[in-house]
Amino acid sequence: MSATPSDIQHVVQPSFPEKEATVSTHSAPDGFFAQFAGNPFFTGGLGLAGFAAILAGAQRGLRQGASLLKRRLLVDVDINVKDDTYQCFLYWMTIHHRRQLSTAVQSKPSEKVGIIESLLRRVPTRMHHLSIATSKTHLPNGAVQTQFALIPGPGRHILRYKNAFILANRVRETKSMGLNNGNPWETITLTTLYSQRHVFEALFLEAHELAQKRVEGKTVVFTPRTASWEKFGEPRRKRTLESVILDEGVKEHIVADVKDFLRSEQWYHDRCIPYRRGYLLHGVPGSGKSSFIQALAGHLDYNIAMVNLSERGLTDDRLNYLITILPQRTFVVLEDVDAAFSGRTMSDESGYRGANVTFAGLLNAIDGITSGEERILFLTTNHVARLDAALVRPGRVDMTIRLGEATRYQAAQLWTRFYGDIDEDSVNQTRFLQALENLGVVQAEGQGPPDPVNMTSTAALQGLFLKNKHSMEGAIAGASELRRS
Ligand SMILES: Nc1ncnc2c1ncn2[C@@H]1O[C@H](COP(=O)(O)OP(=O)(O)O)[C@@H](O)[C@H]1O
Ligand SMILES: [Mg+2]
Repeated sequence: MSATPSDIQHVVQPSFPEKEATVSTHSAPDGFFAQFAGNPFFTGGLGLAGFAAILAGAQRGLRQGASLLKRRLLVDVDINVKDDTYQCFLYWMTIHHRRQLSTAVQSKPSEKVGIIESLLRRVPTRMHHLSIATSKTHLPNGAVQTQFALIPGPGRHILRYKNAFILANRVRETKSMGLNNGNPWETITLTTLYSQRHVFEALFLEAHELAQKRVEGKTVVFTPRTASWEKFGEPRRKRTLESVILDEGVKEHIVADVKDFLRSEQWYHDRCIPYRRGYLLHGVPGSGKSSFIQALAGHLDYNIAMVNLSERGLTDDRLNYLITILPQRTFVVLEDVDAAFSGRTMSDESGYRGANVTFAGLLNAIDGITSGEERILFLTTNHVARLDAALVRPGRVDMTIRLGEATRYQAAQLWTRFYGDIDEDSVNQTRFLQALENLGVVQAEGQGPPDPVNMTSTAALQGLFLKNKHSMEGAIAGASELRRS
């Protein structure tokens, strides 16, 4: 049933009789377009194309508008993993999130809050990606407590802080591992509305305060990492000076010396003497050398940088560099310094090179440049006779202290610490000390020093008391266990 042109004419014309006069008055091109305009397929296609163009334009506009808006209305803050704020922020975010969850649970429906506040509270702020952070706390009794915390993992997190929404994007790069001591390079980008940019200041302040509180009353121990110092486990609870019992007056003597040194910065500078001081603690194992250094650090609010000279891979250059980038208010502690060179001649300057620190390298590091900051060094050894004279010469070691076998005074003090509250009139203390004298473990009054082979260490005394926590009789009976021979 194909329609002929005459048929169309026939159909169209009677349908629009009034349009005929109008059309005839128009110019030829109009007539040409009118033909297309009259075609429903053409107008439809044109409409679609126009619509697509408008859409594309709108999209481009939107994109440009969005980026303009973003530039105008949003504000970003980048924190990289090397920055001190990085760990502070992650910890803050964990705590902040935990706090928000608990307030959400606690807030009662009857509680009166503003409309905005109530709307904001409805918006869920979630952490979908979590990482596990394991930390170890070294308790004063030597036990290690392990704690796990879920911290925000890589990915995007939305958090609410002081009625502002913040998008936190934690990005881990897998390509540039080396830049962060072999750990992946990471950044966190925080984004919020430009009008609310002031929350960042408050947020970072809070994060730093929180981090500060975490180490308050604690001593941080650092150990060398490739080219930096790294916190060794969680900060330890401060050890009190009272908890370390040295022979009469010894503790006070050292504490006074360190305090005097800390007050004398100007004196050193005026005389062009490097502002540093070295202490050598020697004596039998378990005499409290390490404990005393830890307690002194706690007392003066210092941290500890612990170096194991025997560590493989610790070269002269690294040690030298590490000493120059020491964190502030930190003691350098070289434990068991004799052991690091056992089997090697200390003075052999050409000695072992490569994997370990050489003796010459150690001396260089000790003498190393001090950048105006004070530097306090502690060396410990169980065998002072094995140390090279070059190591203990004044300027490197300024004070040598022997923490020897337990004396009568220390035994009495330690007894009081353990049984002071149950030993009425110190009757049992006298009995215990008498037993030690009879065994030749401690010096008897009015007698010469006992034979060192019979003497004992404060650690051994503490061990005996720990074994007999509730029994003074048990401790007295066990005194003979203390005799070494
Ligand atoms: N003089 C002391 N006062 C209190 N505790 C001591 C003393 N000496 C040793 N101890 C205890 O014995 C253990 C080992 O002591 P430590 O300080 O490591 O000895 P060192 O470093 O001399 O070998 C620690 O648990 C410590 O508390
Ligand atoms: Mg020790």
